[in-house]
Amino acid sequence: MEKIYEGKAKEVYSTENSSEYIIRYKDTATAGNGEKRADILGKGELNLAITTAIFKMLEENRVKTHYVETIDERQMRVKKVEIIPLEVIVRNISAGSFAKRYGVEEGITFETPTFELSYKNDDLGDPLMVEDHAIALGIITKEEYDYLKNETFKINELLKEFFGKINLKLVDFKIEYGKDENGNILLADEISPDTCRLWDKDTNQKYDKDIFRRDLGDLIEGYKEVLNRING
Ligand code: C5P
Repeated sequence: MEKIYEGKAKEVYSTENSSEYIIRYKDTATAGNGEKRADILGKGELNLAITTAIFKMLEENRVKTHYVETIDERQMRVKKVEIIPLEVIVRNISAGSFAKRYGVEEGITFETPTFELSYKNDDLGDPLMVEDHAIALGIITKEEYDYLKNETFKINELLKEFFGKINLKLVDFKIEYGKDENGNILLADEISPDTCRLWDKDTNQKYDKDIFRRDLGDLIEGYKEVLNRING
């Protein structure tokens, strides 16, 4: 296997099958565009297990994803895609950068979810990107934008139901899409407590990466609780 990319939390390898990649989940946690960093034993395995459960659920609900199979506790086989350099973010409840940007409290439940894009670029700090700018720069077409927005809201409904059943509120999340060799857009990357905000429905306790970002306690305990609830 040849390593073709190493990100903050995952490594991507090419395989003998030229239309697939293997993604290896690391134990690294980062926040604030890599300013805060720690190795947290067990995080990679937990995120892989949680991502696996979610991608299987989405596939069962006819969402097209890169998921092929989970090989072991660390590695997932996926369809090869070229990542579209956009972070696609949905918010159901105010928190994080939204609360900061508009000077509002966290925890305001929105009547309808919001949709936003950030340009995936570490050097620029992943700036917010409006639709017209993504189209002007040729990152996506208008048709692709409409498809992404529609698909993302569908995924939001499926995720809200999935987490709702285990007594978690889906506050917000980030997803990424990629294009396969035939130009099909597939949901890619991961969906885990690293990329979603999850609050307990009754107590609002946080079960996501804010535990690390804000030094709220033991991240592994939080992620384990999410996986335990998923596994019933
Ligand atoms: O920080 P912000 O409030 O914009 O984050 C919104 C959602 O997107 C959160 O669930 C966060 O975990 C996720 N996110 C992410 N990767 C980033 C930025 C945000 O997974 N680079």
